[in-house]
Amino acid sequence: MGIQKRLVGSYFVVICLTVLILEIFLIVSVRYYYFHNVERILMNQAELSASFFQQYFSDEDLEKQSDRLLKGFANNSDAQVQIINPSGRLLQDSTGSGDDSMSKYIGVQSAIHGQPATWKGKDPSTQEAILAVSYPLQAKDIIVGEVRFITSLTETINTVNQIAVLLISVGILVIVIVTILGLVISWTITRSIKDLKLAADQMTEGDFSIRVQKRYRDELGTLADTLNMMASRIAKSEQLKNDFISSVSHELRTPLTSIKGWIITLKSNGTDNRPLLHDGLDIIESESDRLTRMVDELLDFSKLDNGRMAIHLAPVQLSRLLDYTIRQLAPRAARQGISLELQVDEPLPTIQADENRLKQVLINLIDNSIKFTAPSGRIFVHAYTAPRKVVIAIEDTGSGIPEEDLGNVMQKFYKGNQYASGSGLGLSISDQIVKLHHGVLRITSEVGKGTIVQIDLPV
Ligand SMILES: Nc1ncnc2c1ncn2[C@@H]1O[C@H](COP(=O)(O)OP(=O)(O)OP(=O)(O)O)[C@@H](O)[C@H]1O
Ligand SMILES: [Mg+2]
Repeated sequence: MGIQKRLVGSYFVVICLTVLILEIFLIVSVRYYYFHNVERILMNQAELSASFFQQYFSDEDLEKQSDRLLKGFANNSDAQVQIINPSGRLLQDSTGSGDDSMSKYIGVQSAIHGQPATWKGKDPSTQEAILAVSYPLQAKDIIVGEVRFITSLTETINTVNQIAVLLISVGILVIVIVTILGLVISWTITRSIKDLKLAADQMTEGDFSIRVQKRYRDELGTLADTLNMMASRIAKSEQLKNDFISSVSHELRTPLTSIKGWIITLKSNGTDNRPLLHDGLDIIESESDRLTRMVDELLDFSKLDNGRMAIHLAPVQLSRLLDYTIRQLAPRAARQGISLELQVDEPLPTIQADENRLKQVLINLIDNSIKFTAPSGRIFVHAYTAPRKVVIAIEDTGSGIPEEDLGNVMQKFYKGNQYASGSGLGLSISDQIVKLHHGVLRITSEVGKGTIVQIDLPV
């Protein structure tokens, strides 16, 4: 069942029940009030008549006085009045008929025994609904007869019925209004949900350009925002992935082209030209290294991404590691006319780390610095001890990273310049490795001045 049906259905049931209970209560109350009122009026009149009789006529014979009495009684009442003698015989009837077909009903009779009584039922002859009230007539504590007031209930029943019809109409009106309101409200809700579902379906199909219209500022509106944000993130990461694939293919092709070119050259005239052969092989070697490094990086990355990278902790002498790494990268920096300096503030404590991974981080970071620093620039690597940690800071006088990129450079595949060489994985991998060591990698940078990358490693 759809949400709209469920919402409106439950609304409908609740309202119907409420209206029904209220209607029953109101109609029963109205009925009781009206009938009770009629009964009270009749009883009052009967009581009044009986006391009138007791005061002024009790000395005389009931049967003889009955005619006059009846006139007196009937004068102040619209009801039918009957006077009955103690044996139950009808003496007088204000309608003039001598018919006392009611006498056989219990209750109508009981006044003869001293108790006022009421009886509700159908007139035996006309089948009309009537109410009869009997009251004993007493003369000096002796019951000498009974006065009976009878009234038709038809009018009362009609009034009650009219009120009931009115109440039921109002009830139905309320149900109709509330149902329409419920339909409108649930429509506004389901409309938003339908929008969301439609958009989600499109996204499942792979279309992330779709955006959900935010109709209201409620939970569904927030959900629409979230869905839109999700779509734009996925679209962005799709874009990154595509960029990555094209950049990786490009990166792989460059060394391969160079290797292939050199092999062709060496094949045709490498045997008799020793210096050429030497140069060629050197280049082939370094290009192969580059390829290997790239493939390694990709493998690392997929391991990191799956959480399968394990680090093997062992005591590491940081100063030795730094020395070694700097020496390895110095020739490259020198080739580009960049000075690469190392300062270690001894004593550095021995830390627990994975030496190879840590070296990979240092190479990544210094590689970035070399890559993004112009000739005659300077790279300064500084290692020192701080409370409970060792800090390695790599500072360069390179291009710097624009503020808007700074938050993204650690994301996988993110490159400041899409056409620059590299896969955009270096910083992402380094950050992950530092995190595996429970350390922190921080970048501060200013465009045109340079970049400082700082690694904090816990001791
Ligand atoms: N020292 C730096 N100076 C200026 N920009 C930098 C520096 N280090 C990183 N960046 C910026 O951050 C981006 C991401 O760096 P990252 O090392 O992750 O990727 P990459 O160097 O482009 O590729 P890879 O390291 O995989 O070869 C770089 O493309 C560059 O724009
Ligand atoms: Mg890099």
